[in-house]
This record gives sequence, C-alpha cells and structure tokens, in this order.
Amino acid sequence: MATTGARVEGRPQNLPADHPVVRWVNEVAALTTPDAVQWCDGSQAEYDRLCQLLVDAGTFIRLNEKLRPNSFLARSDPSDVARVEDRTFICSEKEEDAGPTNNWRDPRDMRATLTGLFKGSMRGRTMYVIPFSMGPVGSPIGRLGIEITDSPYVVVNMRIMTRMGRAALDEIVRTGDFVPAIHSVGKPLAPGEEDVAWPCDPETKYIVHYPETREIWSFGSGYGGNALLGKKCYALRIASVIARDEGWLAEHMMIIKVTAPDGRVKHMAGAFPSACGKTNLAMLEPTIPGWKVETIGDDICWMKFGSDGRLYAINPEAGFFGVAPGTGMATNANAVRTLYANCIYTNCGLTDDGDVWWEGLTGEPPAHLIDWTGKDWAPGSDRPAAHANARFTAPASQDPAIAPNWEDPAGVPIDAIMFGGRRTSVVPLVREGFDWEHGVFLGSIMSSEMTAAAFGTIGKLRFDPFAMLPFCGYNMADYWAHWLDIGRRQGARLPRIYLVNWFRKNAEGKFMWPGFGENSRVIEWIFGRCSGEDDAVETPIGLLPAPGALDTRGLKIAAADLEALLSVDPAAWRQETAAIEEHYAKFGSKLPAGLAARLEQMKKAIAAA
Ligand code: OXD
Ligand code: MN
Repeated sequence: MATTGARVEGRPQNLPADHPVVRWVNEVAALTTPDAVQWCDGSQAEYDRLCQLLVDAGTFIRLNEKLRPNSFLARSDPSDVARVEDRTFICSEKEEDAGPTNNWRDPRDMRATLTGLFKGSMRGRTMYVIPFSMGPVGSPIGRLGIEITDSPYVVVNMRIMTRMGRAALDEIVRTGDFVPAIHSVGKPLAPGEEDVAWPCDPETKYIVHYPETREIWSFGSGYGGNALLGKKCYALRIASVIARDEGWLAEHMMIIKVTAPDGRVKHMAGAFPSACGKTNLAMLEPTIPGWKVETIGDDICWMKFGSDGRLYAINPEAGFFGVAPGTGMATNANAVRTLYANCIYTNCGLTDDGDVWWEGLTGEPPAHLIDWTGKDWAPGSDRPAAHANARFTAPASQDPAIAPNWEDPAGVPIDAIMFGGRRTSVVPLVREGFDWEHGVFLGSIMSSEMTAAAFGTIGKLRFDPFAMLPFCGYNMADYWAHWLDIGRRQGARLPRIYLVNWFRKNAEGKFMWPGFGENSRVIEWIFGRCSGEDDAVETPIGLLPAPGALDTRGLKIAAADLEALLSVDPAAWRQETAAIEEHYAKFGSKLPAGLAARLEQMKKAIAAA
C-alpha cells in the first residue's frame, strides 16, 4: 500500500501484497486517495465500533436501549432519499444490449467520466473494503463480491444485508471469483474541513454497471440501492447478465414457503414493483385456518435448475431493507416483530422517548416527534413524519416467520411464480398463465401505478415487466427471450405462473379486496392448482378461479366487487391491449415472436368475447 501513503488496517495474513484482490484495492486507493484503508472482518466488534463512530459523527442517533436495543436512526440529506433511476446506467459495449428501458452510455466515455469523479474522491476519509457473499457462503447458487466504500453507514448496512467479512474473503481467495463494486459518497474533505452528518454529492450521482466486465461503480449517493451495491446493482443488474450467460434466473422476487393444514409444502416466488406489498406477502399471516406462510426472502431470488429439472431458489440477501411507512401491526405484524432490536432506520420520525415512528406504525401518532428532516412535528402537520421511502435495515433471522430452511445452500424448489402490480382497474385479482410461454407473456405485460421508491410521478401507470424495469442489466426483450429459453430446457419441471392484483378499486374508490392476510385465500387457490386441482375457467387473458373455487367464507365483500375481481371486461381489455401494443413496440424486432403471437391471440379472444 506504500504507493498511496494511506494507513492500512486489517488486511488478512492470507492475502499477500501481490494478490490480485490487494492489487485492485491498491489501484482504487491510488485513484481515490483516502487517509486510511480498512479491511472489514464482519465481526460484531467492528459493527459496534462503526456504529459508535457514526453516532459520534452525527450520522446515527442511538435509540432508546429499552425500547429498541442496539438500534440507530439516520437522517439522510434531503437530496439523497431514494434510488436514482435517471442516474443509473448500463454501459454495455453496444447500446442495443442495454435496450430501450435502460440509460446507456459508451463504456469508454463513462470510464473517463468516473475516473475524473473518483480521483481524490475519498480524500480525508477511510476507504472500507467489504468482502461479501450473496447467498450463504459456499452455496452453489450464491456469488461473491467486494464493495469498496468511503461510507461507514454502508459498511454497517452491508453487514445486515449480506454475509460479509472474513468467511466471504476466504472464499474469494479460494475461488478467485468476485464482482468488484466501488462506491464513493463523492464528498472529499479538505484538510481540517468538518464533515457533515450525511455526506453525498447533492448534484452529481452516477450508478454505473459494466455488464461485460461485471463491474459496479457508484458515485454521489449514500442511500439504499444506490450505495448498498450487493442489492439492486449486483444481485439484480449484474446477476441478471450472469444468469443469462449461465442459464439461470436472477429475479426481483420474494420467496415464501407455504404449508397446508395437511402438512404439504410448496414454495412460491413473487415479483412486485417497489412498495406493492411484497414484504407484506413475504411475511404474511394467513387468515384461513391451518395454513402457514414462512419467509425465505423479501426482495430478490436467484434460481438455478437442480438435477431433477426443478428450479431451486435462494434469497441472496441476509437482511430486509424494507419501506417503513405503512408497516404496522395491522398490515405486517411479522415485520414489526422483526424490528425489536439490532436495526438501522433511515429517514423515520424520532419520538420524544427515543423510539422511531412512521405513518402506519400505530393507528395513533405520537403527540410530538422530530420528523425525518430534524424538525418538530405534531399530528395534523402538513408534512409526513417519515419520508415516504424511509427504510428499516433488519436482520432476516429476526423475522419470527423466517422459514427454518431459509439458508439452505441448495435452495428451495419453486412450485409457483407470481407477478403483480398495483392496478386500481382492469386487472383481475388472480389469473394463471396457460403454460410457461403465456406466463412469460403475463410477466412481460405487468404494469403498476408508480410509488415513491421509483423515479417518476406518483400514481402514473408504467409497464414494469417482471418488476425488473429498473433492475434488468440488459435488453429487456433479450431478457424475455432468456425466460422463454429457460422454459425450453430439456427435462425442465417448471413452476406455474400467476398474475395477481390486490389493488382493484370500485366506483366509490374503495379497495374491493381486503388484501394483507386475506391474500392467503389466493395463495390457497394457487397451492391447489399446483397440486393438480382443476378449478379454473379459461378466459381470453388466462385461467381464472372457477366460481366458488376461491374460499371467501367469512369475508365481508360485496357480490358485485367479487364478480368484478374475478371477471374480464372486454371493453377495458381492448384499451389495455392497445397500451400493451405500445409498450411492446418499444422493443422493435427484438420482441420475441412467441410473445407477439400471445398478444395477437389475446386480442382475438377478447374481440370474440
Ligand atoms: C427496493 C425497491 O428497495 O424495489 O426493494 O425499490
Ligand atoms: Mn425491491
């Protein structure tokens, strides 16, 4: 490390100075010129020391030890509160390989830009080296990475979100295989300059992926998916490219284990855009007697074929980076229980007794608190106490509903895949694809009304195929072709595919379906279908539950609403198909012929209905 003059701490003995990992770390240090380089070991002692450092720096507020032991609140800079999709780039060699849904830049131009930005970007700071594993260390479905960052906030969040530290590094040294991910908050400190509580670059942000060389570079933001590079950047954007090349699937899906009253088990995965209740579904408490749902993962799913032809899935993450607002005992009791201790909160309200609060945590807001911007807040205020994209970072192992097999390195066999968006009209409660290709068609046409976590206008509709719009590391049409290829694999025993929608509203603007724990009724129908039950009717848009097939006993739901939830309105669908045609047109000749044919078939069937 003599080349940079930075102090080096914690470099493991088994890494000689000429090891490729050390050479790469040295190169990054030479470019970014930190004061010190700290190799992280992932220990509790290191975590505790960094949390204290963050408290001393004013980034963290230690919460009341009695109410939330070992837990902290951070408030970000108001300019740095969410993923920045318009500043996220896929820098493939050819523009068409990024496709019409990604921001593309020539990799040579981008490298020049980033070299300029990273030059000296860590001055006055410590550069942390974080070896991590996505998935249990050594899992045949998991992968390795090293994130370099100048943010201790990122280090402690990565310790919750990934398997980070010595074991991962040993595996990297053993296999020589890892994805390099470089992050800087982009706020170098001049000698003697005082730091701010949330360093970032309020103007310049770049979240950059080089799919061919499997590299990630992120500049200017300290928040969430912009900075915790194992999550969206690696486990989705880069992993989707690796998965295409190697014949597996890296998906934006939760994973659950469902147990029927008679003890039969099925595993289901589900793709939903941000803030569409995916975490709620992953931790669902069934309202129907005798059923059990347990969590395997809440956000990301990597699936590989097993020797029996089934798709086996792991959750590559070790924690939940969940949206806090709307999470309460009534909506997701298991999430609330998960948060009893050892968590990091970002942009939540701070109560007078040193606890966190957000809209929806309790029915009754506290009489006074400090809001996410650090100002006094009281009920009736014209601003929310917590930012709409406020988050908790929580160890998955603390979820009382976590499945005992959630860390099985071999993964769990997937029986059903769900897709779903937030649609207040047109799209029925649930339908099944006629076959794999039609299921891929359903995934390709899913759409959702936008939320705060996404970049765009709240409430506006966007097509979000497979909930991968901001996360697919290559041309979306090629991604669909890859899904179709997966279905053609010799000997494959494929999951069934469903499209669900919990968000239909009636003419009075009220949700027709109660959602939350009642979604177990839809899960039960899917479970039955996967067990060979023949209780569906064919419609132009897929297989819907036959009359009476969905258990609605005990539900207070108007007959007209139930009818609307489980039927197809040809006039509304004619408009929907026009929108789908426009969506497909963006992909030009890359659109797989099989999907174009499915759209034509659907149009004909609707016209005939
Ligand atoms: C997330 C997202 O943070 O999808 O999980 O935006
Ligand atoms: Mn997500």
